[in-house]
Amino acid sequence: MSRIVFPRREFARFLAASPLMARAWAQDAPATITSPKDALEVMDFEPLARKALPPAHWGYMATGVDGDVTLRANREAFEHYQLRARRLVDVTKADLRTEVLGAAWDWPIYVSAVGSQKAFHPEGELATARAARAKKTMQMLSTVTSTPVEDVAKNLGTPPWFQLYMPLTWEETERIVKRAEAAGCPVLAWTIDLLAGRNTETATRFTRLDRRDCASCHGSSPTAGANTQTQRGKPMFDGLSGEMNPPGATWSYVDRLKKLTKMKLVLKGIDTAEDARLAREHGVDGVIVSNHGGRATETGRGTIDILPEVVDAVGAQIPVLVDGGFRRGTDIYKALAIGARAVGIGRPYIYGLSSFGQEGVERVLDILRAELTLTMRQCGTPAIAQITRASVLRNGTRL
Ligand SMILES: Cc1cc2nc3c(=O)[nH]c(=O)nc-3n(C[C@H](O)[C@H](O)[C@H](O)COP(=O)(O)O)c2cc1C
Repeated sequence: MSRIVFPRREFARFLAASPLMARAWAQDAPATITSPKDALEVMDFEPLARKALPPAHWGYMATGVDGDVTLRANREAFEHYQLRARRLVDVTKADLRTEVLGAAWDWPIYVSAVGSQKAFHPEGELATARAARAKKTMQMLSTVTSTPVEDVAKNLGTPPWFQLYMPLTWEETERIVKRAEAAGCPVLAWTIDLLAGRNTETATRFTRLDRRDCASCHGSSPTAGANTQTQRGKPMFDGLSGEMNPPGATWSYVDRLKKLTKMKLVLKGIDTAEDARLAREHGVDGVIVSNHGGRATETGRGTIDILPEVVDAVGAQIPVLVDGGFRRGTDIYKALAIGARAVGIGRPYIYGLSSFGQEGVERVLDILRAELTLTMRQCGTPAIAQITRASVLRNGTRL
C-alpha cells in the first residue's frame, strides 16, 4: 500500500499565500508598524492602541453594552450593502467637497465626540484638533472633554461643533451652552441616547484587570466616564455639579434649547423615522443617526441599516449624518449613497491617537480619504453629488 506523502513545504507555501494567514499576521501589527505611515488600513492601529493603553482605558474605548451585540452589528451591517460600479466615466479627478449646515467641508468626514481623550494620549483633544486642522476635517468636541473648548478652538483654527450631554439642572445647561456659544461653536449636537443609563460590561471587565490606583486620577470613582453620570472636575463642568443626562427630558427640552442658543441644533442618537420626523417638527437643524458606537442601547441594529428609514423620513428637509462602525472608504461611500450628508468616526481616530498622537490621527484620516477617493473613482462617481441610491444595493436589491 502506498503511503500518502504530506507535501509539507507546498502546504506551508499554500498557507502563507492564503488570505487567512495574511489576516492572522495582521493581528501582529504592533511588530510590523513602527510609524503611522506603515499602517495600511485604519484597523492596523487597533492592536497598537490596545498595547499602548492601560486595561481600563482600553476597556472604556472598546466597550459596547450588554453583550456588545450592537457594537458588532455596526460593522456586520455594512455587508448588507453592495456597490453598483459604473464604467467609462472620466475619473481623472475626484472632488470630495460638500456642504453641511451652511458650511463648506473639504470632505464628508468628521471626528465625532469622544470624551476624556487624555486617557488615550497626553495631548488628548489638542492632538486631535491639530490633526483635524491639518486634514481639513470637522471636529465635534465632547462635553466631557479633558481639554477646554477654548483651547481646542485655538488648535483647530476654528471653533469645533460642541456635543452636549445635558446637565441635570437647566441652570447648568445654560452655563455650558452659553460657554460653547461664546467660544464660537457653530453647532450644538445634543446626545439623546444616554438619558436612561447604560450597562458597559466590557469596560467593567477590563477595569477589573487594571492594577493601577485609578482613584489617584478619578477620585473615588475609578470607572467615571464609562459607567457613571458624574463628571465633576472635567473642564466644561468647572464650578458645576458634573451631573448630567436628565432621564425626564422630552421633546419640550428641544424647544427650550432652540430658544436658549443661536447655535444650530443637531440631535445625536436618532434611530427611527418617527423620532427623525419629531426632530424636524421641533425645528432641529439636522440629525445624526447614531447608537453611540454600540455603547448606549443594545438594539442589535447597525446604524447603516437605520440610515435609510431616517433619510426617507427627513432627508429632503434637513441633513442626516451618521456614525457607527465606519472603518473603510467603502463604508463611507455606502452611507453617502443611502443619503447621509456626512459620516462621523469615533474609535478609528482614537486608535491613531493612542498609538502615535497627532500623527496617528492624521494617518487615519489620510487612509480613509484615500480609500473614499479610490472608491468614488472606481465606481464612476467622482463627485459627492453623483453618489446616489443608484450607487448601492441592499442584499442585492435596489433601494
Ligand atoms: C471612548 C468613546 C467615548 C465617547 N464619548 C462620547 C461623548 O462624550 N459624547 C458623545 O456624544 N459620544 C461619544 N462617543 C460616541 C461617538 O461620538 C460616536 O458616536 C461613536 O464612537 C461612533 O462609532 P465608532 O466608534 O464605531 O466609530 C464615544 C465613543 C467612544 C468610543
